[in-house]
Amino acid sequence: MKKVTINDLEFELFIPYEKIRSIVEEMAERMNKDFEGKSPLFLCILNGSFMFATEIFKRISSLDAEISFIKLASYSGTKTSGEIKQLIGLNEDLTGRMVVVLEDIVDSGITVANTIEQIQAKNPSEIKIATLLLKPDALKIKVQLDYVGIEIPNDFIVGYGLDYDRKGRNLIDIYKVIEK
Ligand code: IMP
Ligand code: MG
Repeated sequence: MKKVTINDLEFELFIPYEKIRSIVEEMAERMNKDFEGKSPLFLCILNGSFMFATEIFKRISSLDAEISFIKLASYSGTKTSGEIKQLIGLNEDLTGRMVVVLEDIVDSGITVANTIEQIQAKNPSEIKIATLLLKPDALKIKVQLDYVGIEIPNDFIVGYGLDYDRKGRNLIDIYKVIEK
């Protein structure tokens, strides 16, 4: 079993890249069908979602799609702080547009709920939420989720864009923490 150490924590291989890729391919295929005839604006929530966003956006090949980025931070170490800091804001005119939010992982749901609120205030025609990963047991609030790649247990993970104290984003596979 592949293992990595980041700072004080040890992680083991959890979701290999091949599995991630095939899940993203399925999500993109569904979106290409569901959004036919529309011109969606994909909105990637930085930092964690950059790999997922790249992987999915290049497969949205049959649509007249655009992509933009916002930067939020809520995690500190291995716990969500519950407080969202906005580091890069939303400058696009969203009036009458279809917006598809791309999130790496939904944990408490606070980030997605906060993002939906901000987008809603800009009068889009429609909002869809896509997340690569979901920790159903960690949800603290009910959130709208339209596309969910993989449901996982309530363990801390890194890789494929997700970090532990800013490290581990460059791992191609997803690893989970080994509880000691
Ligand atoms: P939420 O606001 O609690 O739903 O947390 C969402 C954000 O926290 C995600 O966008 C991630 O960036 C980060 N996050 C949640 N769980 C993990 C994890 O297991 N590893 C790394 N980052 C995580
Ligand atoms: Mg994120």
